[in-house]
Amino acid sequence: MTINISTATVRDAAALADCAAVTFPLACPPGSPPEDIQRHIDTHLSPERFAATIALPGHTVLCLREEHRIAGWSMVVLDQPSDTDVLAALSISPIVELSKFYVRPDHHGRGSAGALMAATLDLAGQSGRPGVWLGVNQENARAIRFYSKNGFRVVGTKRFRLGDRFEDDFIMEQALPARSTSTA
Ligand SMILES: CC(C)(COP(=O)(O)OP(=O)(O)OC[C@H]1O[C@@H](n2cnc3c(N)ncnc32)[C@H](O)[C@@H]1OP(=O)(O)O)[C@@H](O)C(=O)NCCC(=O)NCCS
Repeated sequence: MTINISTATVRDAAALADCAAVTFPLACPPGSPPEDIQRHIDTHLSPERFAATIALPGHTVLCLREEHRIAGWSMVVLDQPSDTDVLAALSISPIVELSKFYVRPDHHGRGSAGALMAATLDLAGQSGRPGVWLGVNQENARAIRFYSKNGFRVVGTKRFRLGDRFEDDFIMEQALPARSTSTA
């Protein structure tokens, strides 16, 4: 299996939507109504939304690529958080948000997610900001374990709206290594 990781362009929008439609439901708690999940996919993860998001300043999407499809994706956002629970929990500022992180199920447990995370943390570090944070559903034990073994720690909680319901997330953060600024 040959994979590589590179930044998305608008040409990737349809393939990203295809990957997101498969992977977003995997991150939802078992009791989530299927119609709420589908509405979220249709509204927030369409090819049009991906094309618009990729073009936004401060938003970078990374693609885990196979020959014929996108096997996973992540998104790094340079906006400072505005959610009061998030601001209260974080110990690092300014900070990068790891806003999305999804890998197709046939790649789980095979190291692909670790490779995407390494590239994502490297990208976050290129911002020069000293830390990165994310939100993860408290019932998503696999993702919490994955993030923990990739350097994140739980620093607080927040709520995430899916349809008419609120879901509980953990807030996780990690410090990023300082980058020396070259004077050469
Ligand atoms: C989260 C995700 C990227 C991790 O990738 P992965 O290839 O599954 O990760 P890994 O196999 O390297 O690590 C998962 C760890 O969780 C463990 N695990 C698996 N199922 C678990 C469970 N139900 N409870 C606790 N730990 C679990 C695995 O044993 C492994 O830990 P280990 O390496 O110590 O044995 C991937 O599962 C995914 O894309 N999931 C669906 C989308 C998602 O939830 N994204 C996160 C949104 S915030």
